[in-house]
Amino acid sequence: MKKFVQVGCGIRGIEGYAEPILKEFNNRIKLCGVYDINPKRAALVSEFGGVEVPVYDDFDKMIDAVKPDTVIVTTKDSMHDFYVIKALEAGCDVIVEKPMTTTFEKANAIREAEIKSGKTVTVVFNLRYLPFFARVKELMQEKAIGDVLSVHFEWLLDTEHGADYFRRWHRRRENSGSLLVHKSTHHFDLINWFLEDDPVAVNAYGSTRFYGPTRENRSERCLTCPHKKTCEFYLDINQPPMDKIYLACEDADGYYRDSCIFSEEIDIEDSVSVNVLYKKGAVMSYSLTAHSPYEGLRIAFNGTEGRLEFCKMDWRYPDLGQGVNNVITIFNRRGEKIVIHAPQDGPGGHGGADEKIRDNLFIGCNSDPLGQMADTRAGMMSIGIGMAANISMKEKRRVYLSEYYGDL
Ligand SMILES: NC(=O)c1ccc[n+]([C@@H]2O[C@H](COP(=O)([O-])OP(=O)(O)OC[C@H]3O[C@@H](n4cnc5c(N)ncnc54)[C@H](O)[C@@H]3O)[C@@H](O)[C@H]2O)c1
Repeated sequence: MKKFVQVGCGIRGIEGYAEPILKEFNNRIKLCGVYDINPKRAALVSEFGGVEVPVYDDFDKMIDAVKPDTVIVTTKDSMHDFYVIKALEAGCDVIVEKPMTTTFEKANAIREAEIKSGKTVTVVFNLRYLPFFARVKELMQEKAIGDVLSVHFEWLLDTEHGADYFRRWHRRRENSGSLLVHKSTHHFDLINWFLEDDPVAVNAYGSTRFYGPTRENRSERCLTCPHKKTCEFYLDINQPPMDKIYLACEDADGYYRDSCIFSEEIDIEDSVSVNVLYKKGAVMSYSLTAHSPYEGLRIAFNGTEGRLEFCKMDWRYPDLGQGVNNVITIFNRRGEKIVIHAPQDGPGGHGGADEKIRDNLFIGCNSDPLGQMADTRAGMMSIGIGMAANISMKEKRRVYLSEYYGDL
């Protein structure tokens, strides 16, 4: 039986990996150890999974003791490279959560370590497994609108989900690379995957005018905030699973899950607008808004043979947004409108995508006709757009990925 260990035991590490491994895959693979800088959180793995898993107080000690086949990395983003490279050097395969890492230098270092080790890094792009997006991919493969000439992409986060990125470590660029890396890596990967093309150049603008120190009535955190009765963003951390995973563990590391979204510490954008040029010539306009009244996305592809568009609202807002929700529409050049009722989201994490990717990661797949498993190159290309956008905003210029990746 293959031996796995896991580093990073937060909400994603526990609910996305350790718990389902222990409950659903325990007869196929063995989770032999966990490590987190917060030992209290690491100890929760056994409680949530219902099986005793050794907790190590040091990552290297865990690798030496277990000699695992595969290391799962689910720490905060900026530490991914540190553990991925250590794991590769120890002769292990790696499964790493998105974003693969947060800077061009770290991305290149992961790629080099992977090549040197002869081992494999798989980047978890679970959205490729959402049945709706898989159907879009099939249509793209079938050339339903010919060659894609341009893409228009808008992703909206509401003030519940969107605000969450401003409460935690994500709000510091040094931890997450900003939302353009942490969050948009999903979106850029989808487009790179749909188009089967590489981004070449990026130009971006961004601002932080909704979150950050935009109001006087703010405090360190919701738990102790004097404005909690009147603030519409008050988060009650005393509810499951936040109470156990964060509140009960915070004396070990001072990590507050409910930090104030109006903090001066915030240095990431809450509104971004990005232009991307692709190698085969397609151009994309992309925007991410983290403070929308509703949540969902709209994408349109303009191709040589027509236009394909869809609008996909979050399940909490089935009746909001423009256009027909959860339907793919193709307009061809014969004046026809073809409506495709794509598969809807299922139960489970991220519309059922998490279950599907776990089957592939832990049971394996014999064929992968849509190319849903993602490697380091895919990881690099998706974060490449976000990191280039960060540089574009800072240096006020168009940024070419080849400046940092060379001829990848
Ligand atoms: N694919 C998805 O849909 C999806 C969804 C959520 C999160 N994620 C990814 O999962 C990862 C974890 O996110 P989360 O929401 O669980 O965050 P979290 O804050 O709940 O957990 C992060 C964990 O990393 C630990 N950690 C921080 N620094 C560390 C270090 N130096 N060494 C060891 N452990 C360290 C923290 O103590 C914490 O337990 C992120 O990379 C995030 O992008 C992916």
